[in-house]
Parts: sequence; structure tokens; C-alpha cells
Amino acid sequence: MEAKSDIRFTRKLIERLAKAYNVVVLTGAGISAASGIPTFRGKDGLWNKFNPQELASVDAFMRNPELVWEWYNWRRQLIRDVQPNLGHYALVDMEAYFPEFYIITQNVDNLHQLAGSRNVIELHGNIMRNKCFDCGKPYAGEIRLEKKEIPRCPECGGLIRPDVVWFGEFLPEEAIRKAQEVSTAAEVFFSIGTSSTVEPAASLPYLAKGNGAYLVEINPEETPLSSVADETLRYPADQVLPLLVIALERIRGRAKKN
Ligand code: OAD
Repeated sequence: MEAKSDIRFTRKLIERLAKAYNVVVLTGAGISAASGIPTFRGKDGLWNKFNPQELASVDAFMRNPELVWEWYNWRRQLIRDVQPNLGHYALVDMEAYFPEFYIITQNVDNLHQLAGSRNVIELHGNIMRNKCFDCGKPYAGEIRLEKKEIPRCPECGGLIRPDVVWFGEFLPEEAIRKAQEVSTAAEVFFSIGTSSTVEPAASLPYLAKGNGAYLVEINPEETPLSSVADETLRYPADQVLPLLVIALERIRGRAKKN
């Protein structure tokens, strides 16, 4: 049976991609939806069932670190059990077509790296890593809650926490600096699978467009960015991105780096 798709790329996008040197992709929870990881907002979103202030904030950790760890261990397990999807793999392939190609992700699920992407800027940390709550030193040990005791930092004695950004916390300084730098330089900027509501990530597409980037949104639903984007592809990322790679092969060939 012949595969059918309504997905079409505009001539403008193809022309921009044909000559682009710098391409930047911002991803959110939607890119991992096809892998089976729930998004945060929307009907079945995590923040519809759980209160982020009770699970993903500094106050929550100070009040009840065991509960916060239970939540993160549950999410870790969920993530350990899944694989990257065609959207993640297509982004790995896209790297090969542009001299400068960056993925800025709000996701903490490590799936871009697991798929094989190299230039990944993690804005909200990585759920697979731990660090000290007090001094911030990375911590490599396992967190086993059966022992009913959260490990402490060998350096300063502080409690160990997941290395993710919580509500009310600043983003890792170097990550946001680099994200702003590459967004400013982008010639084509893709916003993929994000509700475009959480700052400062939500401002990056505006920064890119303000500096001349062609702005493309890939999301089955409308977002606050939709009316600003030069074009919106209202389909799941795992359907659009493999087709985009086929288009890139036609218009650019695999011209470059390893
Ligand atoms: P959201 O849950 O807010 O938004 C997910 C977006 O993905 C929605 O706009 C969906 O329409 C879209 N979507 C769903 N399935 C899709 C698919 N197959 N392909 C493409 N898009 C799809 O997630 P984020 O925008 O990532 O922060 O949320 C931003 C931040 O809010 C998260 O990083 C997290 C959360 O609180 C922290 O934990 C600090």
C-alpha cells in the first residue's frame, strides 16, 4: 500500500534550507511524546495530574526530599524503559547537512544524546545526572530509596538531588548563554514540540527571528508562537522530521562534516 502524507514544505523553507549555514532546533516534551514519555501540559500532561510546586521546586525538596526523589525515580524509570523515536533520529541525520547545527532542548530525558546528536544544549538539566543540593558538585552514585536515606555529598555533606532545573531556579548559566548565542546566529530556527510558554526558552525563537532567522514551528497544536512563526507544520515531529531529512538529501546532499 502506498504511504500517504499531506505534509508539504514550502518553497521558501526549501530555499532557506538549501543555503543555510547555521540551523538551530529548540525542542520540548512533544518530540519525546512518540517515545511514550508524557508531556507536561495538555489533556494527559503531567502537570494536570501532579502539582509541580510539590514535586519540582526547591521548597518541595526542602520539605520532603524523599517524595521528590520518589517522583524523579519514577520518571527516571519511565525514561530508562523507552527509546528515541524517528524524530530524534531525524535530528541526528540533520546535523550532517549544515556546518553549524545545534539542538537546544528543554527536555531532561537524554533521548537526543541517546539517539546520537552531538551539539545538544540542555536548558533544564538532565534527569540521569545527580548533584549536591548545597555545593552543586556532580554525584555519580546510584540513588536507592529502599535504604530510606538520601545520599550526601562526599565534599560538603549536602543532600544529593537530581540535576534538573526546578520551578523558581535559574537555568545553567553557560547553557542559556550558548543557547542565546546560537539562536542569534541561526538562519533557520525550528521550534519543535514545545508549548512555548516557559521562559527563558520561550524567548529564543523571538531572538532568532529578530536577528533574521526563518522561523518554523512543528507542533500538532497551536501555541503562542504559531502566529509569529513564518510557517507552522501542524503534524507530529516523528512524521515531519524524517520527510525533512529526505528533502535535505535532495537539496543539499551529504556535503560535509563527520
Ligand atoms: P509542554 O507539555 O508544555 O508542551 C508540549 C508540546 O508538544 C505541546 O504544545 C503539544 O501540542 C506538543 N506535542 C505533543 N505531541 C507532539 C508530537 N508528537 N510532535 C510535536 N509536538 C507535539 O512541554 P514543554 O513545552 O517542553 O520544565 O514544557 C516546557 C517545560 O515545562 C519543561 O521543560 C518542564 C515543564 O515544566 C521544567 O521541568 C523546568
